[in-house]
Amino acid sequence: MKQFLAGIAAAGIAALVGAYAFVVLGLMPANADAPPPALERWAAHKSLHATLAREAPKGPNPVALNDENLIAGVKLYAANCAICHGAADAAASNIALGLYQKPPQLAKDDVTDDPEGVTYWKVYHGIRMTGMPSFSKTLTETQVWQLALFLKHMTGLPPAAKKAWLAVPSQKTPS
Ligand code: HEC
Repeated sequence: MKQFLAGIAAAGIAALVGAYAFVVLGLMPANADAPPPALERWAAHKSLHATLAREAPKGPNPVALNDENLIAGVKLYAANCAICHGAADAAASNIALGLYQKPPQLAKDDVTDDPEGVTYWKVYHGIRMTGMPSFSKTLTETQVWQLALFLKHMTGLPPAAKKAWLAVPSQKTPS
């Protein structure tokens, strides 16, 4: 039994030394210009979904569905999000194209199917190990809900909000 435990301890130490060497010898990829490996993608998505299931608010959006809140959402989006997630033409900026986890161009890959609480959580807290920032220190909760409202209704906006959305300039980087 003692020998068995000593064997397990030795294997554990060897694994730690191996992991340490992997990191300090520069074998762990640090570059952003490669597609993420399948294991990394799996672990990141699994942990994000598990966290969302536990933490994302379940109730309805506390801000009312009206022009005022939708247009506020569009303006916040133009100022904080468009550089990574694009305008109505869904043409990615150079910044978006260079990020390691590619930000979806939301006019093309929209999140209208996601519950608003899920979008709220992602914008409020950000998504670790991706370029998706947390806005908890810079936007109010109401502003984050206005963003979630706009993103939920992005494909079926009433005329005034649609006009504001179509006026957000393309983010495609001039060449
Ligand atoms: C610096 C770039 C950057 C900025 C600015 C940014 N995001 Fe993101 N965002 C990302 C990236 C990268 C992802 C993808 C993360 C992943 O792969 O899980 C993402 C993911 C998301 C998602 C999830 C998309 C999906 O398909 O599940 C939403 C919603 C989102 N962002 C909304 C916003 C909003 C709203 C803002 C502005 C308040 C914003 N983002 C600002 C980079 C950015």
